[in-house]
Formats: sequence, structure tokens, C-alpha cells
Amino acid sequence: MQIAPSILSADFGNLAQAVRDVAAAGADRIHIDVMDGQFVPNLSFGPQIVEVLRRVTDLPLEVHLMVENPENWVKPFAEAGADTIMVHVESTPHIHRALAQIRETGTKAGVVINPGTPVSAVSFLLPSVDQVLVMTVDPGFSGQHFIAENLEKVDELVTIRDRDDELNYLVEVDGGVNVDRIHSVASRGCDIAVAGSAVYNDEADVATNMKALRKAQW
Ligand code: DX5
Ligand code: ZN
Repeated sequence: MQIAPSILSADFGNLAQAVRDVAAAGADRIHIDVMDGQFVPNLSFGPQIVEVLRRVTDLPLEVHLMVENPENWVKPFAEAGADTIMVHVESTPHIHRALAQIRETGTKAGVVINPGTPVSAVSFLLPSVDQVLVMTVDPGFSGQHFIAENLEKVDELVTIRDRDDELNYLVEVDGGVNVDRIHSVASRGCDIAVAGSAVYNDEADVATNMKALRKAQW
């Protein structure tokens, strides 16, 4: 399973170094949480941060848009150098159009479901996405508790994909993944786990935390 550190938990004063550190520690991709203070009760990064980080690393940059009117932000983030842009199905009445706009930019497209949203809400979108992100916390903050019931959605998404040759999306989990949880995520066949506070915290350095996560998944 790939590990995608979320820089939301990193030291904002040293973001470039925070990304270099996880890259050196074997991160598979960088998860960038974009929040507008409307769709979620927090504010974070704009496209400028993606532009800066694009110069820092060759790792794939995945942008998790937690914003209203996500359509307005597709082009700016694609131009800034995002490799994948993910939109919440709950954030727009025109999710199909938003995903098409992402693909038009040549960027990979992902759809995200909140803890209260069933997989059936995105079943008609599955042929149009490269990634499905299952939230295991209510989005807005790092360091929240993992909502375990959501793992059933991982089973569902893996089963649907594996019985249909036309579907090839990656399944990703985001929120509350730590050394105690990562095995339950990996054993469901999840492709990518996001980890924020489990990677960036005061208890140990990033390399030690990444190693512990990788080891705990088996
Ligand atoms: C929550 C974000 C997550 C979060 C993960 O809104 O989408 O990516 O930063 O942080 P942890 O791993 O600490 O829950
Ligand atoms: Zn996220």
C-alpha cells in the first residue's frame, strides 16, 4: 500500500523541508489538503503552495479539494502542477462536469466521499475516475479519530473494481490513519493511505514515523 503524507500536519514555516523529509523517508506521493472555510470549517493552502512544492519534489502531488464551487479551482491547481485533483461529491451539484474538467487539463481525477456518504453516491462516476478517496474522519482537521465503519466502503469499492475490467481506480483512505489503524486499512486491499499527524508530530522524526507506519501495515 502506498503512503501519502498530508502536509496539513507539517510545520507551515518549513513546508519545502517537510516535503523533502518525507520524500527521503520513502513517501509515495504528497497529499495536499485545500480548505476554503466554507465547505469545511478551516482554511489552508492555495495553488501557490502547489507551485512551490512542484519545484521541491518529483513525487506525485495529489490535491484534495475541500471547497465549495470546486470547478473554479480545477484550472489553477492543474496549472500549478498538481498530478491528481480530487473533489468531494458533496461539494457540487455538477460532480460529473467537475471530473470532466479535471481530465481535460490532463490531470488525474479523483472523487471523495464523506463518512456520511455511501459508495452508491458515486457508482455512476466510477468509470470516470482514477481514484476514489474514502474519508475516515469528517474533513477539516488533522489528528481526528478514525471512523472504522467506513472501511466497509473500501471493501465495496475494491469488489466493484475487481469484477469489472473497465474500472481501474485506486482506492484511498484519509483521516486518522496511524500505526494502530494502518493494518486494518491495508488488509482491506486499499491502495493508498493518507497520514498526517502520524507522520508529522513531536514524538519522533519523520523517517522514524514513516518506517513505523510501513512496518505496521503488514
Ligand atoms: C482532513 C484531511 C486529512 C488530514 C489527515 O480534512 O483531509 O488529509 O490532514 O490528517 P490525520 O492523518 O492526522 O487525520
Ligand atoms: Zn485529505
